[in-house]
Amino acid sequence: MPIIAPSILASDFSNLQSEIELVNRSKADWFHLDVMDGVFVPNISFGIPVIRAINKHATKPLDVHLMIVDPDRYICDFKKAGADILTVHYEACTHLHRTLQAIKAEGMKTGVSLNPHTSVSVLKEVIKDIDVVLLMSVNPGFGGQSFIINTYEKVKELRQMIKDNNTKTIIEIDGGVNLETGAKLLECGADALVAGSFVFKSDNPEATIADLSNL
Ligand code: DX5
Ligand code: ZN
Repeated sequence: MPIIAPSILASDFSNLQSEIELVNRSKADWFHLDVMDGVFVPNISFGIPVIRAINKHATKPLDVHLMIVDPDRYICDFKKAGADILTVHYEACTHLHRTLQAIKAEGMKTGVSLNPHTSVSVLKEVIKDIDVVLLMSVNPGFGGQSFIINTYEKVKELRQMIKDNNTKTIIEIDGGVNLETGAKLLECGADALVAGSFVFKSDNPEATIADLSNL
């Protein structure tokens, strides 16, 4: 069964507690939380105080996706706010190996995200230090964009790299996920699917999460 991580970015922020409770009682596995700084990506979302508030009500792991420059500055703060998986962007880290050790030292799972233009080959030297690779299947910054097709090939390539290195790294995909793209991604070797608009803009988000989970 795939890991399903609904992206709270697409939820109703004016009813955040009830949106969190909806995810709690659904078949979702993780909460996907998108932090944007208006510098690394052309949009600003929410930050540490909001994650702390979500953590008060969430009963499932918090998968925090940092779309911010120089994330090393805030590793400890995100841990304190409740992050279980902390994902940084390859493109935002000058010393990625050091960043990953710092995340581990805080007792969190390590995540690395790649923009659509970044080849999975850049992770070869650090794949053993990564718990979750988050492949962006849209350009980060906004929900509701269309899926970029060459992600399928990247998933296959990454699956091979994981096999060659004999690691347990999880392949997670973010952007434009629905039942169609989700099914193909799983066929290519993905383990986890993030879904924002497809879940929260649907008539019955709980049922939509169940449909994804049954893929
Ligand atoms: C985009 C975010 C995604 C976003 C996905 O930068 O990283 O997590 O919420 O939204 P959808 O599923 O609508 O493409
Ligand atoms: Zn995300």
